[in-house]
Amino acid sequence: MPCPVIASHTRRKRIASRVADIEVSAIKQMAMRGGKVEDVAALTWGVPSFRTPVSIRQAVARALEHDPDIGKYALPDGLPALRHAVSAHHEAITGLRPDPDRNVMITAGNIQGLNSLFHVLLESGDEVIVTDPGFASHLQQIRLCGGVPVFWPMDEAKGWRLDLDRLADLVTERTKAILLVNPSNPTGTLFSETELRRIGTLARAEDLMILLDDPYSSFLYENRDRFFHLASVPGLHDHLVYLFTFSKCHAMSGWRLGYMVVPKSLKREVLKVHDATIICAPRISQVAGLAALTEPSDHLAEFESVLVRRRELICARLDTLDHVFAYTKPEGAYYVFPRIIASHENSWEFALRLLDEARVTVTPGIAFGPSGEHHVRMAFCVDDAAISTAFDRMELLFPR
Ligand SMILES: Cc1ncc(COP(=O)(O)O)c(C=O)c1O
Repeated sequence: MPCPVIASHTRRKRIASRVADIEVSAIKQMAMRGGKVEDVAALTWGVPSFRTPVSIRQAVARALEHDPDIGKYALPDGLPALRHAVSAHHEAITGLRPDPDRNVMITAGNIQGLNSLFHVLLESGDEVIVTDPGFASHLQQIRLCGGVPVFWPMDEAKGWRLDLDRLADLVTERTKAILLVNPSNPTGTLFSETELRRIGTLARAEDLMILLDDPYSSFLYENRDRFFHLASVPGLHDHLVYLFTFSKCHAMSGWRLGYMVVPKSLKREVLKVHDATIICAPRISQVAGLAALTEPSDHLAEFESVLVRRRELICARLDTLDHVFAYTKPEGAYYVFPRIIASHENSWEFALRLLDEARVTVTPGIAFGPSGEHHVRMAFCVDDAAISTAFDRMELLFPR
């Protein structure tokens, strides 16, 4: 006879379906698989090779030494000094000054900030329009909060441009938001002012939120003059949340720090989720962020110049493998998203073959949406040596 206690436990479903139904993103899956392989050449995860700049490290060292509160919680929406610095910085880049108390929220990075927003915005079955391809983790985040990602295919034949004529047709009664990353991860596309303004106009007309997730706007290469900041449009302030992360441009991915500029009505709601899930971003990281925004920031240009070199390197190496990959040169960010033209089954099979047979990790393109199938994402924020080794090995695996 079965034990009655065990029987009643096993009848209960232990894992909630909203968790059981999602996956660890393929980026992290590949990074974890690669971590078990000795001397792997890793192009899978967009972790910049740079060290957190010395001015930031020194500010933290001073605070550890002299600030008796450094080990304590901060206010849930962040240290006032950092919120004021964010407000000034946001005004410097957009011309619009958010109120540090009503509009600025310090987060533990953009993934955490978006997680709070999706909790606030999404009822089960609500829809979020995402570019296809778009950032893999966004898809899991939306699903985790009961939402449905609606794919907005980009046009690969036109260098991964947005197809604005299709956007209006994707909006339904259930659409809550449009999620944008500019320049794009994984394609490196830089969206034009015209495209972005049209998205803004539609969001206002349909009463949708635009969630502008910004890890990469420091990395624009020769296209800086073409960059347009959608958060600089005054009429959009009630329809736009701007999320900035320190992870990439300040080489602070392990500090877990970001900020959001949100409409006042949303900040109230986001605070509830923030309080219930994380309380506050780590105070020590907020001290680091304050230094990043207020100390000289020569590292931004230095990092960009290194990335320019790495972009040239990876494009040159892709050119020599033109029987394996066809690619569009990225306009910004630090990813390239080549189509696989060598014989293969699908992007997962190809990525696993590269790992098994060449000790190279890339991310299978299907993780970024249906349009990503038959592609892989390669990150060129890693050391030059990792790029060179990865391509030396792929050249051996795919002789002409
Ligand atoms: C588009 C996008 N959003 C968010 C993140 C993660 O940001 P954070 O480290 O601030 O959570 C990444 C990291 O790769 C990203 O590419």
